[in-house]
Amino acid sequence: MSLIRLDKMLANAGVGSRTQVKYHIKKGLVTVNGTPASKPELKVDPDKDTICINGEPINTSLAEYFILNKPAGYVSATKDNIHSDVVSLIDSTRKDLFPVGRLDKDTEGLLLITNDGALAHNMLSPKKHVEKTYYAVIDGIVTDDDVTVFAQGVNIGDEDLNVALPAKLTILNEPLSSYYNGVDSEKDKNVSYITVTITEGKFHQVKRMFHAIGKEVLYLKRISFGPLTLPEDLPISKSRKLTVNELKLLESYIKKD
Ligand code: URA
Repeated sequence: MSLIRLDKMLANAGVGSRTQVKYHIKKGLVTVNGTPASKPELKVDPDKDTICINGEPINTSLAEYFILNKPAGYVSATKDNIHSDVVSLIDSTRKDLFPVGRLDKDTEGLLLITNDGALAHNMLSPKKHVEKTYYAVIDGIVTDDDVTVFAQGVNIGDEDLNVALPAKLTILNEPLSSYYNGVDSEKDKNVSYITVTITEGKFHQVKRMFHAIGKEVLYLKRISFGPLTLPEDLPISKSRKLTVNELKLLESYIKKD
């Protein structure tokens, strides 16, 4: 049982701002299990209590899941004072949505946005080793030796030893057209197109892995996260709800050891 303040819960559910919700409560329009709520601080259990506004029940514990194609320039945070946060791109009135994990401000691609804390916890748990695949454009020629170094675990520590877990680096012959984000043609001759799959989420991990082998990431896009793949037809900055099938995949994925 997790209790939460009535006004917070209603605001999270997208009923209105905290001030508007308090006004509804004061007017006696909000009932909890049939009784008009006495005060905004009243503690309620969203999973058990029946909460209505004007007699209309509110489904407060409904979990929501969105897949977002994050654009560059947005931070993976939910603070109210950050206007370019990723949650502002989601078409929902809920106030309790948050991104599952982080992508750098300049990184694009797949972000899962939800209000399901348990699922987020599982997907981010270091014990689960959730696979994340990135497509990247690299300044310099990535070689088969680099593939071997990544497979063995590259040291990304600046001074101390900080060896990344083995990662699967794949050199592509050409840009992934649907994801390629133009690098000027002169430079193109000296760039490589790769995908890399990692199973941890260290700060700036992919950039640091390439930096450690003397190469820099010019463009980075996450194309998969656990069982989820970025849909090719999802335009940048757009999101959609997870399909029933994607949700099933996610649920069975987090059950695995
Ligand atoms: N690795 C990075 O360097 N940046 C990201 O945003 C994600 C992984």
